[in-house]
Order: sequence, then C-alpha cells, then structure tokens
Amino acid sequence: MVTMLGLILVLMVGSMAGMKAHNEDLHDTVSTLAKQLMMQQLMFEERIRSDGDSGLKQCRVNNGGTKPYHMPSYSSKKGAGSCHDHSNHMRTLGIGEFVAVLNGVEFRTRHNDYLLRMPSRSSIEYEAMEDIPFPDVPQSVLAQTNVKDQIHEMQQYFKAFQNQDSTIRNYKPYFKPVLCYLEGAWTTDSDDTITEPYESDRHWLDAHSWKDLEQKIRFNAYAGRKSTLENYAFLPRKIMSLINDTIPVMAQWNYRILCHPLKKDLPTDRFRVVDDLGTRMMFYRNLDQHTGSRRARFQLPTKDAPWNEYSDKMTSHRELLDELMEQIPGKDNYGAFHVDEAFGLKAHKVKSLETKNAGYYHRWYQTDKKGAMGLSLRHRGFADKNVFMAMTRQTKVAPMEVEDCKGEGSDRVCKKYKQRWTYAIPLEIVYMTPLLKWNPYDIEYKGDASSPKGQSVEENGKRTGGFSRATAYNGTHHQLYYHTPAEFFQGRVVDVDKADTFKGSSGVLDKRGIVRPMTSSGTRVVLPNIPYIGMVRQRYPIMPIHSEGNAIWKELSALKDIIMDLKHYGYMMEKLPDGSKPKLKDYLKHSYNEKGYKFYLDYASGAPGAYVGRHRHHFILLKEDMETLKSRRPVTVITTENNGHSHMITVRIPGSRAVGEPKMFRCDGEEVCWDGHTRMMHIKRDGEAPRFYNGRN
Ligand SMILES: *[C@@H]1O[C@H](CO)[C@@H](O)[C@H](O)[C@H]1NC(C)=O
Ligand SMILES: *[C@@H]1O[C@H](CO)[C@@H](O)[C@H](O)[C@H]1NC(C)=O
Repeated sequence: MVTMLGLILVLMVGSMAGMKAHNEDLHDTVSTLAKQLMMQQLMFEERIRSDGDSGLKQCRVNNGGTKPYHMPSYSSKKGAGSCHDHSNHMRTLGIGEFVAVLNGVEFRTRHNDYLLRMPSRSSIEYEAMEDIPFPDVPQSVLAQTNVKDQIHEMQQYFKAFQNQDSTIRNYKPYFKPVLCYLEGAWTTDSDDTITEPYESDRHWLDAHSWKDLEQKIRFNAYAGRKSTLENYAFLPRKIMSLINDTIPVMAQWNYRILCHPLKKDLPTDRFRVVDDLGTRMMFYRNLDQHTGSRRARFQLPTKDAPWNEYSDKMTSHRELLDELMEQIPGKDNYGAFHVDEAFGLKAHKVKSLETKNAGYYHRWYQTDKKGAMGLSLRHRGFADKNVFMAMTRQTKVAPMEVEDCKGEGSDRVCKKYKQRWTYAIPLEIVYMTPLLKWNPYDIEYKGDASSPKGQSVEENGKRTGGFSRATAYNGTHHQLYYHTPAEFFQGRVVDVDKADTFKGSSGVLDKRGIVRPMTSSGTRVVLPNIPYIGMVRQRYPIMPIHSEGNAIWKELSALKDIIMDLKHYGYMMEKLPDGSKPKLKDYLKHSYNEKGYKFYLDYASGAPGAYVGRHRHHFILLKEDMETLKSRRPVTVITTENNGHSHMITVRIPGSRAVGEPKMFRCDGEEVCWDGHTRMMHIKRDGEAPRFYNGRN
C-alpha cells in the first residue's frame, strides 16, 4: 500500500511537471491503483471470512498467568465478552471492550456499557430508538401493607422464576426476556464528524473526528497505551466505490448494541452452557462452578427441552435462535419491509411460499429457482454460521450495486440491483425483573443525575450513601438507582469485579427523611443470594465466537468432546488408556440417532416439459413433527437438494382415520411435484432410524 501511494505521488509530481500528454495515462493508473486498493480490502475480508464465523474474538488482557489459558480470550476474568454489573444504573448493562468480527469485518469496540433500548416502534428515522418498558410490579406484592411482607411476596416471584414454576406464582408477566445484539454496517459517514454509535451513560468515543480517533488508535497500537476510560474504538474505513473510476467514495464501519423485547417467554431450560475449557481453566472451575459464574456462555440449540445433540446430514434446520433473531428489524426499525430480489430470484420465507421480509435479521431463506420450479434453501454468507443480515433503505448505509445480464444477442436483458445491508450477532438474553420498578420504601426518584434535582441526591459529594441522616443519599437518580431494600438479598455475590460500580448497601433517605439501607435495582449478571432461593441469573451471554468457524477449532472441539465424555464417545478412541481397542457395544448410543424419522420420496425423472435426471430426495420428520401429525395437523418440511433443487413438502395423515401412514399432500405449494415424485413416502431402514410411526407408538 505504501509503495502504491508512493507511485501515485511520483506520478502526480510528474504530471505537475507539465507532462500533460500523460494525463490520460495518469487517470488510468490512478484508476487501476484505486481498484487494486478495493480488491486488497476484499481479499482481507475474504481471508477473515474463511478463518472463522462472525463472533467475538478477544477482550482486553488485564490479568496474568503462566499458561496461555490464564489470559482472557472472548471471556475475560470479569465475564463472557467482559460483561459486568452497573446495577446502580437504572438502565445500563456492563460490557467491556472487545474485538469482534461481523461478516469478515474485524473491529474493536470502546467500553460498551449499553442501555436497555430498542429500535423505534413508530419512526423509520435512522438510529431512532426508544427505552424498553420495564415489567410491572405484581399486584400481590403491592397489596402487602408493610415492606417486610412485600419483600417476602416478591421473593416468591423470584422463587417461581428460578424454578420456572408458575404454580408458585405466575411469574411470566413480570420476568421479561430481552435479546441484546451487536449490529454493524458500512456507513456513508464520510464527513469527518464522528457519529456516536449508540448511547451509554458511562462511555463515549473520545475523539472529535474519525481522523482523530484513527490517529489515537494508531498511537496506542504503536505505543501500547490505552485510553484510561476505554473510550477508543478501532472502526475500519474503506473505499466503497469509485466515481468515474477514480474518485474514491469512502465508507466508515460503525456498530451499536441494542436490545429487543422478545415476543414470548423464553424458558430458562432452553439454555445450554458451552464448555469453554480455556475459560474454565483460567480459574480452575469445574463445569457447575463455571455455569454459575459470569464467564459462562450459553447456546440456544433447540425449541424443546431437554434438547438432544443433532447432526444433520440432509437438511439444515432453523434453530430456536433463528426464531428469536428474526423478530429484530434492521436499520429501518420495526416498520421495516424489504424484498430481496437480487439476480431476479426472490427470497422466500423458509418452508413457505410467502415473500421473506428481508428488513428483519435472518440467515436462512429460500429462493425460487428460475427454469425449474423447485425451491432452494439458502444460508446467508459462504460459510458463516452466525451472521444475521437485514436490508435497509437508510441512505446512511453504504450501498452496493451489481448488474446482472441474461440472454444472448438481441435477447440480452440487463438489470441493475442496488442494496444496503447490515449485519448482526446475538450477544445475550437479559431477563428484566420487577426489581426495576419496585420501590417499597417510596424513595423519591429524582431522574437524571446531572439535573438540579438529581444533584440534590449527593449534595455536591456531601452525601455518600452512609447510614446517618447527614450522609445518606437524599433520594435516588439514574446512576444511583437504589430502590431495593438491602434485606431482599442476603450473603454471597458472584464474582465481584472492580469494573462493577454498585455497593453492597447504601443509606438512602425516604420521603419522610428516614434512612433506609438499600441496594441497587439495576440489572446484574447474577443477583446476590436471595434467602432460601439462591443466586438467580439475570443475564445469559449467548455470543458466538469467531474461532468456532475455524477448522482447528472444529478438530479441537471434537477431541474435547471425546475426552470429556468417554461414556458416549470412547469408541472414537483408537486405543483406550489400558491399551485395548474400544468395542462399540460398550458405549451409550448417542441420542441424535433417535431425533427423527428419515423418509425418502419416490424416484422421479421429471414431467412433460420439465425433464430432469432420475433422482430422489430425503427428509426428516422430527419427533415433534410426529406429534403434530398425530393431532391431525399438517407438517411442512424441506427435502434434501438433489438434481439442483429441493422441494418444500407438506405431509399429513390422510382421511379421518385415527391411525394411518403420513402422505405428502402438497409439493412446493402444488398438488403434485413438478418433476413427478408421487405422494408416497418411504421410511429409510438403515438400522439407525426408529420404527415407522403407525399410530400405535
Ligand atoms: C464524471 O464524469 C462525467 C463525464 O465525464 C462528468 O460529467 C462528471 O462531472 C464526473 N463526475 C465527477 C464527480 O467528477
Ligand atoms: C431532600 O431533598 C428534598 C428535595 O428533593 C428536600 O426538600 C429535603 O429537605 C432534602 N432532605 C434533606 C434531609 O436534606
């Protein structure tokens, strides 16, 4: 790159020397170099894309040790993605600095500490957001006449949530899950004023322009220093396109963290802890200890619990995570609607003939296939399991164009497509609790800390939360959000870290001037111990990891699983520790073999007007699909792709008989498959699949 710039300089000096005849050469040369620079950036992104998936890569190193795993990676000593508590803040969730990759773009965030905010429900304006409403306090808590009884009643709701048991109390309306996500985009922020990616009441980008920020990042990279307040971010810039082949149009990468209140309750048994062995070894925690710590990361594998491991040879299934992420709009906010028609192939919803709303985050879609009538199931990206994408109309998002020509000679038709996309990955699920609103001592909330009223809480530093009338806080503000009676909790707190900003308990004056021992009411990763209930987790980090998409990681996880669960996977060993060869029959059969029923369609060779090679397709009916069939409802699945197409088929048990064999009754929305498969479905008997469902089992 340095030599290229040097070349441009030499050429420019040359041209200034009056070599006008060479102006055209110069134009061509600059154009070639500029295009090469763009290709260079593409090569760089492509390399990152093939090295791993979208996900977190690294947190700041701020502890030591004698082994590589003593150092932070995507989990710091604080927590997964360096999550931590600012529960003295009303709306703030602590997350430190990290390096992440989104669709091949690697960047480093500032200290994040984001707010419980969501995209606007009423405005389609760029970056319009609103506060997420907090859950209410249960009426049966408010109905108690004294604080002691209120505390007891509130604890019953936490017990119900902890045990996920609605018979203790109907907790679901008061414990609301929110999905927080990391979103990135190439923006057209070419003017030099910096755009704050999103609000935090603790951090901001400490620079007056993009150039200034860039220089600070360069200096710190060179000198190894850090911004004391962790307020610098490395956000790359690139040439997005060239006007008249020479004038570069720059695009600036930017990101934000935002949340979305989930439409339905998410039972906590859907989370499965990920065994991050390196992170466990950081402080030598066994899996149970790790699960209770802030460094634990979770997965949302399937809709049902208990879930089974599955490995699908045939078709890809949407995960529970897809359902949740697909509720989140891109930069056009909740009103978003977009049709992705690139290359004349409209994107459809999966297992449906309806058009996909590409304005919401998704990774799976179906295209209709021109020529043949079959549908094809597609995943965004070449090999990125984790990236979710959404389309937008915001002109602040840098567009990309392509021209697609079809046909020959005079039949040749060309069409231009211009699209704008943004990218996202999930970060965590946060359960908002009624503590956010509950204020049994009726302490005056004085709003923003910097307002005149807010300032009376600390009275210029005279009031420090002590337990005398003179030193207790006078009411609360949004950064001293102490509305929970201290006796609600008792005892232990998980993993206190110096980044945490709450104090165990503080004296706060109520409206009558009585000092009350209070504790903070904001969100925590894990709540302190509640008597007779234990430690309740509020935040479930679910961020994916960049390395998971790497071949080395895959090999390592396979090895890890074999070693960690010899009862299941011991037969994978070449020799057991005692030197003997493992016998297959000695091992538990892995449950994924029982996950579903494998079927195939009849062979087909096409139909008049649409002849294709002889082929057939497979598909799986899951156990849950069988339940649906039993209850006389149809099930729609997508078959394997063969002969360049797949089918979306709908299956049901025909007639009104209580028992019967399932039959295909719709194929790509039609009565018959366009290529001649009959309605017959055959169970695949390969020893693995369980017996065919015939209504008796
Ligand atoms: C690009 O080239 C066209 C034709 O030569 C010219 O009219 C136009 O002004 C140029 N655009 C810019 C931004 O220089
Ligand atoms: C606390 O603040 C309120 C105003 O918000 C004021 O009226 C009251 O006198 C203050 N109490 C004390 C003890 O300073």
